[in-house]
Amino acid sequence: MSRAYAGKNIVVGVTGSIAAFKVAGWVSTLAKAEAQVSVVMTSAAQKFVTPLTFSSLSGTQTHTGMFDNESDEWMAHINLGREADLVIIAPASAETIARLAHGMSSDLLSTTVLATRAPIYICPAMNTRMFEHPATRENIAKLAGYGYQVIEPGVGMMACKEEGQGRLPEWEDVDEIFQRALTVHDLAGKKILVTAGPTREPIDPARFLSNRSSGKMGFSLAKAAFRRGAEVTLVAGPANLSTPVGVQRVNVQTAREMHDAVMKYADAADIVIKSAAVADYRAKSVYGEKVKKEKIGESLELERNPDILLELGKRKKKGQLLIGFAAESTRLEEEGKRKLEAKNLDMIAVNNINSDSTGFEVDSNQLLLITHESSEKLPFASKDRTADLLLNKVLELMQ
Ligand code: PMT
Repeated sequence: MSRAYAGKNIVVGVTGSIAAFKVAGWVSTLAKAEAQVSVVMTSAAQKFVTPLTFSSLSGTQTHTGMFDNESDEWMAHINLGREADLVIIAPASAETIARLAHGMSSDLLSTTVLATRAPIYICPAMNTRMFEHPATRENIAKLAGYGYQVIEPGVGMMACKEEGQGRLPEWEDVDEIFQRALTVHDLAGKKILVTAGPTREPIDPARFLSNRSSGKMGFSLAKAAFRRGAEVTLVAGPANLSTPVGVQRVNVQTAREMHDAVMKYADAADIVIKSAAVADYRAKSVYGEKVKKEKIGESLELERNPDILLELGKRKKKGQLLIGFAAESTRLEEEGKRKLEAKNLDMIAVNNINSDSTGFEVDSNQLLLITHESSEKLPFASKDRTADLLLNKVLELMQ
């Protein structure tokens, strides 16, 4: 579970839609991630789910109206709004969207929205025809105009047995967006190009040369960079991983395809991070039919692939940061320093691929970060955490 939520004050506004039951799961997940969740329900919402359900999931008292019977509730709208780090309105009904668009303040939820300076995320959920009605569209456009982030509903079968757009998104589709809203955007405005995963060098229709890279390290870097506000392009070899939210993914197979994709995006990038395991060699001949096993030995002649990182080093723009990776088994520091100099890098991340808890495929890693000024061994950590630590070092280099 990511640390982005821990200790953060998150107001979840729940309104009158059957999707309110799904938001109970969202609240439970946020509470488990150690967020301080305050649920505010409209009266219509209570027709679908009880306040007690939310209280038991959030661990805090559910707010159900401007002037609840609790003594200090009447100031809740100011306190909730002022202390919030994030306000999520989910599900957002057409009624609530209309009232927020017109700055109404007739209940605790609408007054909290007016009183807060935190990022506000609106998740509409309703029948497709209601969602597509011009009045609803106009109100949603107004909310976007106020700077509220509107998360488009999904398409699918609705509770009203109609197919169309109007479904509340799944938690997996919004989790990354909320985490980004809670993360300091210290990479805002930066264009980052990340490469990840292996390359596959075909031999015949059944065989190829490749390596053990899963892509996890590069995907973690892309996810962390997006969350910190960067615009991220991820050039990925074959990797069985879902694309991090907000990241532009470019899929490639061979080293030459990866070379062409990298060269297409490299000039526009402020920072290039090359974590892909690019095959140094490819088969000289690629056969249209499967080579008989008796002949495979003699037909496997190899030739060099382009060294993408070396070429990037030669064409590095002024002010651009070029970060390479090194997969080593021994002499990590010496090999890292050699590659740093040889390829004109600003930093190289060296990882030991001999250990069963660092390097290829595993969820953890331990990087040795070498720059021209320093050599720093990062703590053993998850690849997600390692990605953040590497980006922290990139920030230092940028300064
Ligand atoms: O993907 P995972 O399963 O999470 O594993 C992560 C990783 C081990 C693949 C990753 O942490 C890593 O070490 N990536 C670099 C692997 C690699 O190819 O290291 P290398 O020492 O062979 O290459 C050095 C650098 O040159 C790398 O930045 C590589 O992208 C680059 N290179 C290599 C060959 C080539 N033809 N072109 C290149 O650009």
